[in-house]
Amino acid sequence: MPTRPLEGKTALVTGGSRGVGAGIVARLAADGATVAFTYARSAARADAVAAAAVAAGGTAHPICADSMHEEDVATAVTQSVDRFGGLDILVNNAAVGFFAPITDLRMDQIDAMLTVNVRSAIVAIRESLPHLAEGGRIINIGSINADRTPFPDQSIYALTKGALASLTRGLARELAPRGITINNIQPGPIDTDANPADGPVAPAMLGVMATERYGTAAEIGAFVSYLAGPDADYITGSSLNIDGGFAA
Ligand SMILES: NC(=O)c1ccc[n+]([C@@H]2O[C@H](COP(=O)([O-])OP(=O)(O)OC[C@H]3O[C@@H](n4cnc5c(N)ncnc54)[C@H](OP(=O)(O)O)[C@@H]3O)[C@@H](O)[C@H]2O)c1
Repeated sequence: MPTRPLEGKTALVTGGSRGVGAGIVARLAADGATVAFTYARSAARADAVAAAAVAAGGTAHPICADSMHEEDVATAVTQSVDRFGGLDILVNNAAVGFFAPITDLRMDQIDAMLTVNVRSAIVAIRESLPHLAEGGRIINIGSINADRTPFPDQSIYALTKGALASLTRGLARELAPRGITINNIQPGPIDTDANPADGPVAPAMLGVMATERYGTAAEIGAFVSYLAGPDADYITGSSLNIDGGFAA
């Protein structure tokens, strides 16, 4: 087993400045990939993620690119390709969530979820595909809420994550002839700013799970790295749960 299984690979991760995305950047870089990652607002935290990757012996470059804007996403792909001379791995991680009854959600909140969680992933995939070669990897970060929504107020967020699962299945058929895999990771509760393990909804979350703990960004990073690596060549079109038994 190589100690750096992604040596020589290049990756772009959307939303890598905090939380799950930061865990993905850290792990891909530690496993040898040269990583670019986007953020929208958290410049200082993005710089810290990049510095930590470098301190650990890896390479990571932050790119300010708002997933609300198609041209930002396209530019992030172009910058990554230009800087690295190619692209092997795309991880669509950036997302936003607004949780309220559908009648209380504002349309701008609904549009933001559709745009960042779904449309920007479509844009990133379209822009990346001309550059991905045989062995290329696309990994979407969905949510277990696509399969199970045990609480109210999650309908549109869950819809966006269900869309990623469908997109993943459909594209697997298009991309397999090119030797490119696409998969959709569906996390359960992960300890981040968006869903702190000591936050107000944590007791309810833990109450519907098989395990009695939140997952970590590092655990998602490890799963992404496996799917990005050579051992996962036969996995495509799948939505894979890493959820502590949330859906069990
Ligand atoms: N945490 C969980 O329990 C959980 C469970 C299931 C699935 N997920 C999924 O895991 C992924 C990450 O979630 P998280 O908990 O880490 O969220 P988070 O703590 O809110 O972090 C979100 C990340 O996405 C970036 N982002 C947000 N809006 C953006 C935009 N318009 N353009 C570019 N980047 C943007 C943020 O950048 P800035 O720092 O610049 O804002 C940040 O890096 C999401 O796809 C989420 O749906 C999370």
